[in-house]
Amino acid sequence: MGLLVQNGEIVTSESRYFADIYVEDETITKIGPALQAPAGTEIIDARGKLIFPGFIDPHVHIHLPFMGTFAKDNYATASKAALIGGTTSFIEMCCPARKDDLLASYYLWKSKAEGLSACDYAFHMAVTRCDDNLEAQLRLVIDDGTASLKIFLSYKGAFAIDDGEMYRTLQLAKKLGAMVTAHCENAELISRLQQELVSQGRTGPQWHEPSRPEFVEAEGTGRFAAFLEATGASGYVVHLSCAPALRIALDARKRGVNLAVESVLPHFLLDKTYADREGVEGMQYVMSPPLREKENQRTLWEGLASGDIDTVGTDHCPFDLAQKMMGREAFPLIPNGLPGLEDRVNLMYTYGVKRGALSLHRFVDALSTRASRLFGLYPRKGTIAVGSDADLVIFDTEYRGTISARTHSMNCDYSAFEGVAIEGRPAVVTVRGKVQVRDGNFVGEYGRGRFLRRDAMQAG
Ligand code: URP
Ligand code: ZN
Ligand code: ZN
Repeated sequence: MGLLVQNGEIVTSESRYFADIYVEDETITKIGPALQAPAGTEIIDARGKLIFPGFIDPHVHIHLPFMGTFAKDNYATASKAALIGGTTSFIEMCCPARKDDLLASYYLWKSKAEGLSACDYAFHMAVTRCDDNLEAQLRLVIDDGTASLKIFLSYKGAFAIDDGEMYRTLQLAKKLGAMVTAHCENAELISRLQQELVSQGRTGPQWHEPSRPEFVEAEGTGRFAAFLEATGASGYVVHLSCAPALRIALDARKRGVNLAVESVLPHFLLDKTYADREGVEGMQYVMSPPLREKENQRTLWEGLASGDIDTVGTDHCPFDLAQKMMGREAFPLIPNGLPGLEDRVNLMYTYGVKRGALSLHRFVDALSTRASRLFGLYPRKGTIAVGSDADLVIFDTEYRGTISARTHSMNCDYSAFEGVAIEGRPAVVTVRGKVQVRDGNFVGEYGRGRFLRRDAMQAG
C-alpha cells in the first residue's frame, strides 16, 4: 500500500516549499502539488506542519561495556526513543575492549540490532588495538558496509590507542577508503591529573572537568589533525566541546586537512556547573569531554550556524543513578555518559531555530544531511527527493511540552534535561514509508530497522 502525505511544507537543507509526497515500496516516488493516489493509499494530512527528512544521529552508544558496567539501552528502547524524537537512523559506535577480537565484536554488535531495531542503523568500527590481523579484518568490516572507523585517544587502559597505533590505523583507513572518527583527549594527561586530584581529596564530580581541561582536548584535536595531515586520511572529531579545540580543528582545515567536526547536544545547553550539584545529581552530568564553562556555548552555536561545526550528534550513553553511584568515592569511577537520543531534535529546534541561533536549513543540514553526506548515506538518507528512502518527520511547531524522565522512552531513570521546555515535536515519523510514531507515541514495529550499508570512499 502506498502512502500520500498531503498539504505539508517540505524543508530540506537547501529548500522550503509546499508539496505532497507520494511513497511506494519504501521510497519517495513523486513530489508535487495536489498529487492523486490510487484507492487504498494511506493518507496523512500534514497541513500546518513542517516535513523534514528523517534525522540522523551520527554518534550513539547502545551496547557498550564500559567502566565496569554496561550502558542501559538496548536496540528496542533506543530505537523507540530515537523515533519518538524524530531520529530515523543512527550510527552506533562499535567499541571492543582492547583484549577483544575486532571482527567478533563487530558481529556481536550487529547481532544486538538485528531483528530488534525499529529504526535504521549503521556502525563506526572502533580500532582499539593494532595487530597483524587488523588490515584483513578491516577489509571484511568495510566490505560488509561499515566504511567508517573510530579511535579513542582517551580512556587509558580501556579503548585508548597510542600514537603508533593511530598512525597505522589512519594509513589503513586511507588505503581502504574509510573515514576515521576520533575522541580527541590526551589519555596520559587525564590519567595523571585524575591521580593528582584524587590524592588531594578532590573526589567529587565537580573535579571531572578539571581533570580533562580544555587544553587536554585541544592537544588531542591537534594531534589527530597532524596525523591526518601526515597520512592523508579523512577524519571527523567527535563531541568537540570547547573553543580552543575548535580553533585548532579549523586551522587544520585551512591547511587542507580533511577534517569534519561534530559537537553533541549536552555541550550546547549544559555547562560545568551542573556537575557541582550535590551527590548523585552532580554525577548525572559526568561525560567526556566534560561539560565546559558556559562561554564555550556561544562558540559552539556560532560555529554550528556558520557550518564550521558540521554535525550535531548526541553521544547518547545512558547510565542510571545506581550506576553513576559507582563513582561516589572518586569521580574517575563514575561511568561517563548522558542520555539524549530522544531529545536532540526537539531541543536543537527549540533553542537553536526558535531562539534565532540556527536557520531552519542549517538545522536540517547539521542534524541530518551533513551526516548522510559524510558517512555515505546521501541521497538515500538526509533529504526529501524522488528516489530517497521515505523517512519523514512531520513536525508540529505548535506543540508545547516539557522533558522528563517520567515520560521519556530512553532506558534511564533520569533526564539530563529534566523540566526543560520544548516548542515543537514530531507529530508523525515514518521509516521507509511506514508510520512508526504518531502524536509522540510509538505505534511501529520492532525489527523494521535495517542495517545501512555504506560504501568505502574512493581510496587513494
Ligand atoms: O562520556 C561519554 N562521552 N561517554 C561515552 C563514551 C565516549 O567517550 O563517547
Ligand atoms: Zn568519546
Ligand atoms: Zn561517544
